[in-house]
Amino acid sequence: MALRPYIVGNWKMNGLRATLAEARAIDRVAARYPAVDVGIAPPFTLVHAMAEEAQAMAVGGQDVHAKPSGAFTGNISAPMLEDAGARFTIVGHSERRSLHGESDGDVQAKAVAARAAGLGVILCVGETEAERDAGQAEAVVSGQLHGSLPKEGAEGLAVAYEPVWAIGTGRVPSVEDVAAMHRAIRADLVAIYGDAGKGVRILYGGSVNAGNASELLGVADVGGALVGGASLTAESFAAIINAAA
Ligand code: G3P
Repeated sequence: MALRPYIVGNWKMNGLRATLAEARAIDRVAARYPAVDVGIAPPFTLVHAMAEEAQAMAVGGQDVHAKPSGAFTGNISAPMLEDAGARFTIVGHSERRSLHGESDGDVQAKAVAARAAGLGVILCVGETEAERDAGQAEAVVSGQLHGSLPKEGAEGLAVAYEPVWAIGTGRVPSVEDVAAMHRAIRADLVAIYGDAGKGVRILYGGSVNAGNASELLGVADVGGALVGGASLTAESFAAIINAAA
């Protein structure tokens, strides 16, 4: 099954109002590549302004709360994100898992809430360097998938494989290791969802840049990329989108 490539930028806690100019430029790039799905997950403060203007790219959240509303100071719910114009959200990013103590169960509840609000979901998994060194990478990722994927179905779902040790470090796994992990993730998706698991896009994330995007995106079952640093300028992000086309 040929899946549409999906290239998503995660701006993390980078982005002031001035970044809107970069968002406009990325949207113009996205318009040149109608065969590629392009998304940006900016800080919450920019979601509405970017979504109002976006023509060719989707705007998303970087996280979402599991409850639709209530006394949760500092949090944003899925219906609020959707109301602001977001079309998807990331859940389970390793920075949320490690810095905010999010468990697989928390991530699953967020994914369920996001889909209930009509948002697409990019659910992140990935092993630490110690886990890879111990030969446990596939077991760890499989455990995260079984613990955090919503059980109800695969609709609107993408998985992002982000080895923790590759995030923001300039280090990437070998092509063979990426291929092996994406193959293992596909097998888990099919085990969980049956045939529908074949339609879930599996993105690679971790130090993707203009120089390595073609090679990474050429690996079997790599259906796109989740990009941090290299998504902050239209110029470097455009090269990655171009590599996916
Ligand atoms: O979510 C994307 C991210 O964690 C990867 O960041 O800067 O290594 O591309 P970066």
